[in-house]
Amino acid sequence: MAEKLKLLITAGPTREALDPVRFITNRSSGKMGYSLAAAAVEKGFSVILVSGPVDSSVIPPEGLTEFVPVVSAAEMAEAVKSRFPAMDAAILCAAVADYRPKIMETNKIKKKEGAFFLELERTEDILFSLGQMKTSAQRLIGFAAETENLAENALGKLKRKNLDWIAANQVGLPGQGFQSDRNEITLYGVNGETVQLPLTEKKLLARQMLDVIFQ
Ligand code: PMT
Repeated sequence: MAEKLKLLITAGPTREALDPVRFITNRSSGKMGYSLAAAAVEKGFSVILVSGPVDSSVIPPEGLTEFVPVVSAAEMAEAVKSRFPAMDAAILCAAVADYRPKIMETNKIKKKEGAFFLELERTEDILFSLGQMKTSAQRLIGFAAETENLAENALGKLKRKNLDWIAANQVGLPGQGFQSDRNEITLYGVNGETVQLPLTEKKLLARQMLDVIFQ
């Protein structure tokens, strides 16, 4: 029997703490990444899902090889980079925070008179790191969430991060992208391929994406 394809998927947002009760995050619900994980299990792949904190209504699919819950970008980077060498492919769908507070206060920050300035520092770009680690036998797929210049920005990320495919989606529009059950994607491949996947349910879109990438 042929070996199952080993696929790592990231999903959901990360949370970057300021103090014990506050954090910076984004609107990712995890629906797109969890749909990809479900579609990959359906296809008979061995799937590891690394997920940031999502609502309890977004449930990991049955049949995963491993489910790894994480909170921060640093935790996600550690979980992903330690597992990637044993994978055939990875799809990074998580909306990872690009910045985190430089200092995580141990006590709750008290309000004072006047403005409050928060210093942020860069988090690790996990997708970029995987692009550096990738062997010629591994496939690496990223997402590009853009509010403008979708194609240009996505193609820049495809090249800069050494990807095989990038899934470009327009965000900031009602009824697609973050939180919605539906989405629209253009897949760009490293060999110049462009595949339009029109607006549809994320569950169906995930199957269509995997059919193109792993045909
Ligand atoms: O979760 P949903 O509500 O269903 O919404 C789905 C989605 C809109 C979040 C999803 O379709 C999507 O676009 N995910 C990627 C979001 C994102 O962070 O895109 P980006 O263009 O900022 O990042 C580019 C790529 O680098 C992504 O693959 C991202 O996972 C990765 N990245 C980004 C920053 C970072 N520090 N490390 C990363 O690995």
